[in-house]
Amino acid sequence: MKLYIDSANIAVVESLLQTGVFYGVTTNPLILREAGVRWNKLSDFAEYALGLGAQEVFFQSWGEEAATLCRHGEQLARLSSQVVVKLPVTRAGLEAAAKLAKAGIKTCLTAVYAPFQALLAAAAGAAYVAPYLGRMNDAGRDGHALIAQMAAALQKTAGLTEILAASVRSPEDVTSLAQNGVRNITLSPAVAEKLFLEPLTLEAVKAFEAAAQELQNE
Ligand code: G3P
Repeated sequence: MKLYIDSANIAVVESLLQTGVFYGVTTNPLILREAGVRWNKLSDFAEYALGLGAQEVFFQSWGEEAATLCRHGEQLARLSSQVVVKLPVTRAGLEAAAKLAKAGIKTCLTAVYAPFQALLAAAAGAAYVAPYLGRMNDAGRDGHALIAQMAAALQKTAGLTEILAASVRSPEDVTSLAQNGVRNITLSPAVAEKLFLEPLTLEAVKAFEAAAQELQNE
């Protein structure tokens, strides 16, 4: 199981990476804007996250034409061999992904809403495909069922493309995704924090601590 933090907020990323349960960090331009990380600071951000133990950092390319997406993707990939280049699953994004994959660059096709798009990503040689679970549900689709279809189809076609589920809204989503064969999940800091807040666990720990204190005093 590989869990990722979907944030570019340094303090948040640092605190969550310290738990040792997150494999890497994912971002997109909205996340970077929210955290105030400008393009010229991406190298610093990657270095920092990798220094804290992240194994992969995802940055999204930008531009409307395939050539522009590809050029920016190459720039992003040059930041570190542990950078994965995200691209939208559009015609231009797929064309850029195919070119980057041929050059040995790891890519992730993102903003995926339909199973056939996962197969397009696989055909383009992407390392990851990122379906948006919560947003599928918001749009009235059955996100879990569609992602389960993607997982089954990718497994049957025996490619190397893995699902990286995004727009995950609850710890229960994490379990359901894993049950449906998803091994990589990125979580917003708010959802990630919830993983450590199971009330019955906290209650049990309180009782353990109280007993431990009493043992000290006796
Ligand atoms: O990585 C996708 C994420 O940024 C969208 O999440 O919860 O806003 O749909 P959400």
